[in-house]
Amino acid sequence: MATRAARLSAEPAAGQAATVRGLTRSFGDRRVLGGVDLDIAPGEFVALLGRSGSGKSTLLRVLAGLDREARGEIGVATTVAVSFQEPRLVPWKRVLANVALGLRGPDPVGRARAALAEVGLTEHLNAWPLTLSGGEAQRVSLARALVREPGLLLLDEPFGALDALTKISMHRLVVDLWARHRPGVLLVTHDVDEALLLADRVLVLDGGRIAHESAVPLARPRHRDHHDLVALRAGLLRRLGVDPEETA
Ligand SMILES: Nc1ncnc2c1ncn2[C@@H]1O[C@H](COP(=O)(O)OP(=O)(O)O)[C@@H](O)[C@H]1O
Ligand SMILES: [Mg+2]
Repeated sequence: MATRAARLSAEPAAGQAATVRGLTRSFGDRRVLGGVDLDIAPGEFVALLGRSGSGKSTLLRVLAGLDREARGEIGVATTVAVSFQEPRLVPWKRVLANVALGLRGPDPVGRARAALAEVGLTEHLNAWPLTLSGGEAQRVSLARALVREPGLLLLDEPFGALDALTKISMHRLVVDLWARHRPGVLLVTHDVDEALLLADRVLVLDGGRIAHESAVPLARPRHRDHHDLVALRAGLLRRLGVDPEETA
């Protein structure tokens, strides 16, 4: 079968936030992605689970337009924003300038200020990034992504380095921001509970493909003890090669 160079078109198929067909990516002899098919509807919140090294970040980088070596058909929304586990702020620019950085259109500073207010950081507009806590820095990173009003928001383990309490408040914040702005979201995580609390649909990447998918048809906010989540959690853990009994 012929392979085509990855195409980043402004218009994904049928108005989707993202469309991926037959995506492959190898590093040397090692094939990491072996034919990924994926659709994210506008406003849909999708979580991508997978073991460490399964290719989650590789897939996200392709969608972000950061990897030109992948092969397949890729269509993404006109505006794509990314937030990583490390907030990647520019240390010599204050918080407000970090969020306004590279922003096009009218009144970038005013819009950056509004985005920082939405994530609850109005008091830190003039702070230096290195003086922020991990959770605050991650909120700046979210504000910087959202101020672009993306049609597709890509999150790569954004809460992975946060303590448990900070993580809970970040989960709430992300759901609030998503409900207000309604970007299509792809959240990469290795945390099954996080995926089940946040996403409309949970995918499992395994063997270089989307090996499993579960819909999570529950209203938010969700509680991790909700009894509909028990079976979903056990099924996903098994898909990840974990015995659900051992994590109970
Ligand atoms: N730039 C690269 N060069 C070589 N190997 C890479 C590169 N990026 C990722 N890999 C390899 O691809 C595999 C998948 O990596 P990654 O997508 O980061 O996994 P995940 O995010 O699921 O933990 C890993 O084995 C990793 O070592
Ligand atoms: Mg990763």
